[in-house]
Amino acid sequence: MSYRNVAVVGATGLVGRKMIETLERRNFPVKNIKFLASERSKGRKLSFKGEEIPVEVLDESSFKGVEIALFSAGGATSKKFAPVAAKAGCVVVDNSSAWRMDPEVPLVVPEVNPQEIKKHKGIIANPNCSTIQMVVVLKPIHDVARVQRVVVSTYQAVSGAGQKAVQELLDQIKAYVEGKPLEVKVFPHQILFNCIPQIPQSNAFEPNGYTNEEMKMINETKKIMGDPSIQVTATTVRVPVLNSHSESVNIQTEKKLTAQEVRQILSKAPGVVVMDDPANQIYPLATIADSKWETFVGRIREDISHPSAIDLWIVADNLLKGAAYNAVQIAELL
Ligand code: A2P
Repeated sequence: MSYRNVAVVGATGLVGRKMIETLERRNFPVKNIKFLASERSKGRKLSFKGEEIPVEVLDESSFKGVEIALFSAGGATSKKFAPVAAKAGCVVVDNSSAWRMDPEVPLVVPEVNPQEIKKHKGIIANPNCSTIQMVVVLKPIHDVARVQRVVVSTYQAVSGAGQKAVQELLDQIKAYVEGKPLEVKVFPHQILFNCIPQIPQSNAFEPNGYTNEEMKMINETKKIMGDPSIQVTATTVRVPVLNSHSESVNIQTEKKLTAQEVRQILSKAPGVVVMDDPANQIYPLATIADSKWETFVGRIREDISHPSAIDLWIVADNLLKGAAYNAVQIAELL
């Protein structure tokens, strides 16, 4: 095993802290670790394997001697600093959307297209959280029956919008219980007791009426699956769940599969846990997927409105499989 010098960019954020925790939990072979964030975090310390490590301010010289950098500090930071890191000889695993659709940058989910990693030129992109958990399930079905079309609706947790978003939901719960007015700052509407069909909360809508998140699911699925002929349509919705995204997915295949066949295929699929016993009220839930690495799937049934389509329900921890864990898996493959 070769030990690496690792940096986490955006170390103080929700995903950054999960990256640190995942490196620890998986006993990643770390020689040295560096935590980078903005000026705001100057003076802060974060712990790694029992050691308190000061957070450094990200700048042009941050990547000297670093071999692997896990980035999760937003698109603008990645756009500017990922090439700086790559130029310094570091391999970047970037969790932002800045590089995902760049044809020179592999977009990788290790259970789906690990072979793409070899093509990297210094930057590897980590896909969108909602896309990752969906393609982990689509790929084994595609291999057997060729997926033609996917219709997905998401139920996305507030943690996907960062620390301030989580705090906003908690503050609204507290204010409601105390009979005080609810403050709305991060989301465009009150998130408590609501489902908001607008992700991300700012600059969400494209000229075609889809949101940016929906177009990410559509475009990234085709790229990761390596098949632009797969038709995808998506509706992405923020719900008042703290963590773990849920998805209702309809999958149309060229070859008809029975629900039982799909259960068998998915029970052997890497990174997938089938949880499908509706008679006993067993199906994936956000609270079950929380803090887990796997993607959970249930409610598997044949679509009664179509001769060769299935419906299912997919849940995964968006901060782990949807972000930090997928990034660490890529680093492990490196
Ligand atoms: P900081 O804590 O110093 O602001 P989240 O999505 O949970 O809000 O986290 C965002 C992460 O990205 C934080 O670690 C944040 O650091 C970091 N970040 C945001 N902007 C920058 C920047 N310009 N340079 C470095 N890190 C940044």
